[in-house]
Amino acid sequence: MFLKHILSTGLLFCLANGAPVSSTTPSPPTASELNDPNFGPIPGLSSYYSDYRGKEAPFPAKNATPIQNTTSGPAGVDDLLFQNLLAAEWVVYSFYQQGVEAFNKSSFVDLGYPNTTWDSIAEIRDNEAGHLRLFQDSISSNNIKPGPCSYDFRFKTDAEAFLGLQNIIEISSMSFLTGLVLQAQLDSSKGALTAIGLTETRHEVWSLIEIWNVSPFAGPADTSFPYANQILDVTNEFVIPGSCPAENPPFPSPSQNLPRLTITDNTTSFNPGDEVELEFEFNPEYQVNTEYYTVYFHGLFNISVPFDTQTNLTTIPSEFEAKGVIIAVIADEIGAPSKESVVAGPLFIFQQPTSLNSL
Ligand SMILES: *[C@@H]1O[C@H](CO)[C@@H](O)[C@H](O)[C@H]1NC(C)=O
Ligand SMILES: *[C@@H]1O[C@H](CO)[C@@H](O)[C@H](O)[C@H]1NC(C)=O
Ligand SMILES: *[C@@H]1O[C@H](CO)[C@@H](O)[C@H](O)[C@H]1NC(C)=O
Ligand SMILES: *[C@@H]1O[C@H](CO)[C@@H](O)[C@H](O)[C@H]1NC(C)=O
Ligand SMILES: *[C@@H]1O[C@H](CO)[C@@H](O)[C@H](O)[C@H]1NC(C)=O
Ligand SMILES: *[C@@H]1O[C@H](CO)[C@@H](O)[C@H](O)[C@H]1NC(C)=O
Repeated sequence: MFLKHILSTGLLFCLANGAPVSSTTPSPPTASELNDPNFGPIPGLSSYYSDYRGKEAPFPAKNATPIQNTTSGPAGVDDLLFQNLLAAEWVVYSFYQQGVEAFNKSSFVDLGYPNTTWDSIAEIRDNEAGHLRLFQDSISSNNIKPGPCSYDFRFKTDAEAFLGLQNIIEISSMSFLTGLVLQAQLDSSKGALTAIGLTETRHEVWSLIEIWNVSPFAGPADTSFPYANQILDVTNEFVIPGSCPAENPPFPSPSQNLPRLTITDNTTSFNPGDEVELEFEFNPEYQVNTEYYTVYFHGLFNISVPFDTQTNLTTIPSEFEAKGVIIAVIADEIGAPSKESVVAGPLFIFQQPTSLNSL
């Protein structure tokens, strides 16, 4: 669908310029070409994933369909992980691509942001396109490589809203990449996930310094949350229902389909020690005679607080340092020791910039 859109845009451009619609229009690459890691610019070798400044989708996003398997045989041991990650990366990449398309240099300069803002957004978009390619290359040709859905990030023409959401996207990326390391079988996958998580951190640090003018530091450790697929599931919030290619595998897989957790609008402060009121996307499957807890993760630590399922009020542990991100879930066991113990969430609570609050 997306590909069709790009092609028809290209066609309109030709017609408007009076150029003949010739047979030289390059045909889209084949699945065999796209399954070859040497096809197209190679991340880490080519500067394309840093320097491209077009508004049109870069490679490999301009070939926006699932890539069919060209061989059959057993799945690679980390194929499922990278299929999940590629589907999540389509969300992240598309966020930046929509920003590159919706805004220009003056959109940000007019709001008082540095004159390099659009350029940096475009460079991050390029990095994310490189991630798409890296994740495609990490899935064996025995397996399908998911294509993009349609996404609604709700920032429309509001550049400020875009910049706010950018923090949420980057911090959740940092968190799910950290969690996915626990699922990886191959050492090479663990290294790749760590390296890409670090790149997302650089994107986040850029924004904290350049855009928000706050300290980029988050204490000695960012937050390690073990159930990466629960975070991936939250990114489905941006997917327009029914818009995913039919060939795409389910995302994420496996999924617990937990209700998303948010903080109600009438909560105004989100610091350690503050009481907040939680809201659920749909009612969690509470069991009778069971104690529930809000389990808060920060750094490498977690703290459980009994959760009152009647009032939905909970207090962010005052023990935590007010820096970085706190991730919270509702669980039926202290410490949420298994993913099955989680009944709702995760919820992200940001400590900086303070003008942002939660996802
Ligand atoms: C793709 O994978 C399916 C399922 O494993 C298999 O039946 C099919 O033959 C594969 N396609 C090719 C071109 O090998
Ligand atoms: C930037 O975008 C705005 C809003 O769409 C538009 O009015 C303006 O002409 C654009 N500026 C440039 C330099 O393209
Ligand atoms: C961007 O802003 C810096 C200072 O903030 C200034 O030195 C530079 O000339 C500006 N560049 C452009 C292209 O406007
Ligand atoms: C907070 O807002 C929710 C609706 O979002 C409302 O149901 C609730 O009663 C409010 N709580 C307080 C303490 O005002
Ligand atoms: C607390 O959340 C539950 C689950 O969504 C909901 O049924 C209940 O009405 C909420 N309680 C209050 C006081 O808002
Ligand atoms: C939370 O902390 C407790 C105590 O250190 C630990 O046993 C538990 O495994 C932690 N939970 C997770 C999900 O890591």
